[in-house]
Amino acid sequence: MLPLFLLWLILGKCRCQTSMTSLFDWGGRFQGSFNIPVTTLINGWEVIITFSEPVSIREGTGKGTVLSHSADGRIHTLVNTENSLILNSGQTLDLQVEGMYTGSSAPTATAQLINLGHDPYTLPPALPNHDGAKYNYDEVLMKSILFYEAQRSGKLPPDNRIPWRADSALNDRGDNGEDLTGGWYDAGDHVKFNFPMAASTTVLTWGLIAYMEAYQDSGQLDHMYSCIKWPLDYLLKCHVSKFELYVQVGKAELDHNYWGRPENMTMPRPAYKITAQNPGSDIAAETAAAFAAGYLAYHNANKTYANILLMHARDLYEFAITHKGKYSDSVPEAKGFYQSYDAQDELCWGGAWMYLATREEKYLTEAEKHYEAGAAWGQSWDEKNTGCMVLLYKVTRKDIYKTDIEATFKSWMPGGTIPYTPRGLAYRLNWGSLRYASNMAMLALLAADEGIHPAEYRHWAQAQIHYALGDTGHSYVVGFGVNPPTQPHHRSSSCPLVPAPCSNRELQQSGPNTHILYGALVGGPDQSDHYEDRRDDYVKNEVACDYNSGFQSAVAGLKAVHLRGQL
Ligand SMILES: *[C@@H]1O[C@H](CO)[C@@H](O)[C@H](O)[C@H]1NC(C)=O
Ligand SMILES: *[C@@H]1O[C@H](CO)[C@@H](O)[C@H](O)[C@H]1NC(C)=O
Repeated sequence: MLPLFLLWLILGKCRCQTSMTSLFDWGGRFQGSFNIPVTTLINGWEVIITFSEPVSIREGTGKGTVLSHSADGRIHTLVNTENSLILNSGQTLDLQVEGMYTGSSAPTATAQLINLGHDPYTLPPALPNHDGAKYNYDEVLMKSILFYEAQRSGKLPPDNRIPWRADSALNDRGDNGEDLTGGWYDAGDHVKFNFPMAASTTVLTWGLIAYMEAYQDSGQLDHMYSCIKWPLDYLLKCHVSKFELYVQVGKAELDHNYWGRPENMTMPRPAYKITAQNPGSDIAAETAAAFAAGYLAYHNANKTYANILLMHARDLYEFAITHKGKYSDSVPEAKGFYQSYDAQDELCWGGAWMYLATREEKYLTEAEKHYEAGAAWGQSWDEKNTGCMVLLYKVTRKDIYKTDIEATFKSWMPGGTIPYTPRGLAYRLNWGSLRYASNMAMLALLAADEGIHPAEYRHWAQAQIHYALGDTGHSYVVGFGVNPPTQPHHRSSSCPLVPAPCSNRELQQSGPNTHILYGALVGGPDQSDHYEDRRDDYVKNEVACDYNSGFQSAVAGLKAVHLRGQL
């Protein structure tokens, strides 16, 4: 706690002292009151009371509870109860203390109010926009990577950059005690859903492989390697034997009832796995894809690590083609949240990634065998057909893939079958509308790199991403650009600093989240471009690992387009 405390002092938070008014002195027992002026909106607070002599106290109004006292009995720290979370500017905080003293007369005391609802975070220095683009892509990349750091579960490394996050979920274990700590919390909640986590990892890693110069030029390359390694390390832990893969930790119904910090969770967090008897070829193939992409990202950076990833990828892809089934049938706990539509697309996508990593024909054969021809619906944590056609065109140059890519984007571009909002967002679905458009923007950039309508596809991708970055007059990325969202539906960033309690009241309070969840892309507008920055709107204002993945890769792609002079 000491460093945070020092930060408060450095930030010059009000050190105003309020003296105690003595109410009663019964000799040995006293009662006093503090009427502390509140000069700013406070969301969670602490009051430090310093007495003239040692006392023992309790607070009498129910607004605060005594949290700690100094060894000499003179300094006592009170923290707000849940009922007294918010203090408005202009109000006074009236507290009463009663206690015992041993000296000859009742003590005097002063109190200091500390706002636990301010953000102690100082951003890394601003990155200049040197690409000549309308938006500062370097800043978006830097902040999007920070968002993934805020999602980290498990034991945090010493270089953790998110001061309001600490170790959490250290008891995540498999049926036989296997260590399943680590990985990312899925969204505004704290379940670890491996299906979207692995898909996000694959998509982010693809962006790194394809647009490495963008990460290099923005100074984010090392951070980006840490970004993908975090889920890769966790997914490796989940693959406990050849045909045994943990696919979820935490039960959504229990998790979603809790609004608080991941550091303070107490609900059971069961783990669920697929096996030969209860298979999931979709998630086994998606995890293989993440590992194969990870192999490609790491084969120059760390051969040992790359080879570990590839070994697991081989086993998992074999698992996927040997034991067919949908993981959400085998693990019904995933069904209401990340139900898989089918496994064909992952078998194609996973096979294509395996081929890219190994250049072994058998994987290309599998990928092509599972290819679903025709225009694709889009690209998401569940739907990988567009990604698969781009990969297969890249490695085979066959017309069928090119034709399908063109058909897919024809339906996605204006005049096609996908509706548009009046301000120009391709609107696939209302839930997380921006992420579908961002995923397709990434794929349009990758298709352009393969020579498919490069100018048209790049302009379209830019328009979709710029919509999110501010083209409608405000940004949809927390902590970035003009008038960004301040109330994402996200538990940990909404909580005041420790030791203030965090509860449902944080969900309901109307001010901004205490901590700025830098870089998080929110769900997005409705089909008429209408958007409200409301914490309780989990359709428009939740954030998620999968939302940022295609988005971040598309931003890296747009930056690469600028670096290469391709626009
Ligand atoms: C909540 O977690 C923090 C660590 O971030 C810890 O310091 C604090 O004691 C915890 N509070 C409770 C009530 O468990
Ligand atoms: C490379 O990866 C291996 C396996 O994870 C790890 O033990 C080693 O420390 C890594 N080497 C470097 C230089 O990071």
